Amino acid sequence: MAHYTKNQKGKKKGVVMRTLDFTKHAKTRPLEALAFRSAACYEPALEGLVRAFVSKGFIVEREKARLGIGELVRSAIARLEAEEAGKQKWSYTKTHSIEVARFGYAMAREAAAQGMTDAICQDPKLAYAGGLIHDVGKTFIPSAILVKELGVDFGWFTAFRNANLTTAERRIMREEHVAIGTKYVRLFGAGAHIRTMLDMVGLHHVMYNGVDSGVPSYPSLIRGKDLPLHARIAKVADFISAVMPRHYRTNGYISSIDGALAYAITAAGTELDPVSIRCFITGHYDVSPKQAAALIERLAHPQGIEGITDIHAARVYAKEVVRADPEFLEAIRRKDLEKAGQCDDEMEGFARDFGLPPGAVRSN
Ligand SMILES: [Fe+2]
Ligand SMILES: [Fe+2]
Repeated sequence: MAHYTKNQKGKKKGVVMRTLDFTKHAKTRPLEALAFRSAACYEPALEGLVRAFVSKGFIVEREKARLGIGELVRSAIARLEAEEAGKQKWSYTKTHSIEVARFGYAMAREAAAQGMTDAICQDPKLAYAGGLIHDVGKTFIPSAILVKELGVDFGWFTAFRNANLTTAERRIMREEHVAIGTKYVRLFGAGAHIRTMLDMVGLHHVMYNGVDSGVPSYPSLIRGKDLPLHARIAKVADFISAVMPRHYRTNGYISSIDGALAYAITAAGTELDPVSIRCFITGHYDVSPKQAAALIERLAHPQGIEGITDIHAARVYAKEVVRADPEFLEAIRRKDLEKAGQCDDEMEGFARDFGLPPGAVRSN
């Protein structure tokens, strides 16, 4: 609705100010007025609010930041702990980050043991650090949006997951936390270790085949083996942790690490890097790299999870096809408990090396 504004002499100015008379409109057609107001005002306002929220957080962080990877890890863990304490039960970012760190370390260590020469193989501990900080950008996002994505945790079930996330909110959740995370990492310097952290934070959602999965997310010019191994490892570790219980992607449909692995294998070569998945398998089960590679080759879906028309069909594929495979079942029966035990001790050692207090990265 256009209103002509008049000058003091009562003549039309000529220039039309396009405004909406919400009050008048709201009286006659309240729902339409509300819908219009939401569409026109909510999303830009929300984006603006998030930007203001983030810059406020950054001013504080910039003052505190000291150079170095130890400082980065300590500061990120402090933020994740504060988030967990503030948002209580439903916040799982810290638990998820610890899980991603453990998976990432196991994969990097396996890659080194299998003779790979990528940068991360020189110091697999960095994969652990990268896992701990990969989602630190989420700690800057207003809790109202996080709550909507994660739902409300009633202990034995979670309700309202992803309830009514608007396009802007979905974009903020999926893309903004990566952008914010990379800015955060830059506060801690520009050395070689920090650059590795930047890759793990900035590329942890990039599709291995570079194909967009339908959500306008994570565009990247790099794909496949051009992505550094530590970034591919971060993506696989994040994926496997995200489809485990309590996490939103599958609404708790997958109840074990074996199930999550089965689901990940279907996406090998499309969304996920097969080499990292192979390292995940050999890092958690008593299976040779050759056997792991054969499993992946046989069970990966040619079009990946997103190619199986929808996420429900992908779950059915992972459960019925992959988990009915006798060799896969045999492989996952051979869990390598000794490796897992060694891993726990090593994690405590890393935590000390990064200057974290005892128990700071204990997974619950
Ligand atoms: Fe993420
Ligand atoms: Fe994550």
